[in-house]
Amino acid sequence: MTENPTTAVAARLATRDDLPSLEALETARTRGLSATYLDAQDRGEFYVVVGLLQGDIVGRVILDVRDDPAVLTPEMKLLWVVPTARRQGLGAAMTHHLEAVARTLGYEEIFLGVSADNNPAAIPLYISLDYTPTGDHRSAINLSVIDADAPVGDDPTEAIFRKSLRIR
Ligand SMILES: CC(C)(COP(=O)(O)OP(=O)(O)OC[C@H]1O[C@@H](n2cnc3c(N)ncnc32)[C@H](O)[C@@H]1OP(=O)(O)O)[C@@H](O)C(=O)NCCC(=O)NCCS
Repeated sequence: MTENPTTAVAARLATRDDLPSLEALETARTRGLSATYLDAQDRGEFYVVVGLLQGDIVGRVILDVRDDPAVLTPEMKLLWVVPTARRQGLGAAMTHHLEAVARTLGYEEIFLGVSADNNPAAIPLYISLDYTPTGDHRSAINLSVIDADAPVGDDPTEAIFRKSLRIR
């Protein structure tokens, strides 16, 4: 568990017991996805990290470790915080915990894809956490799949960001 005692913000790996809390955060667009994430965790494909505020689950992020050419192994994806809990450090806390999981698994770097067009919050977050653009891009799912507040639009192009996990 990564915990900040002054803000009551914490992050940890999800368990099966978290499914009802994760399902309670689902929207019409994300209905049923939490169970598929935990199924993938059981198969060793995903690591699901949850963010907690005062003990309540208010966010999640996933480390995708599949050995798949479509995945930038390991890839951080589906970072999301409940709108009412944003700007309290949860995105950063979950990302730090995810990086610790990746290090424990032996990875020396971590990747993610982010759309420059429709994602005003995520890019400053990633920059503040030492992620840098690689210069590569790919087409990606629309953000509305993970955030009910996001407008439904065309599938965006994502910039690939990378962070070294090596400690010097
Ligand atoms: C992106 C997201 C996960 C950030 O979560 P969060 O818990 O609000 O982030 P944090 O509170 O940890 O923010 C840490 C830092 O990131 C930056 N940041 C976060 N949100 C920001 C915003 N809206 N505008 C500018 N900078 C922002 C700031 O530097 C912030 O530090 P500060 O609050 O001390 O200034 C959240 O806004 C979200 O769920 N957005 C919708 C889904 C999404 O975009 N996911 C990412 C897909 S790539």
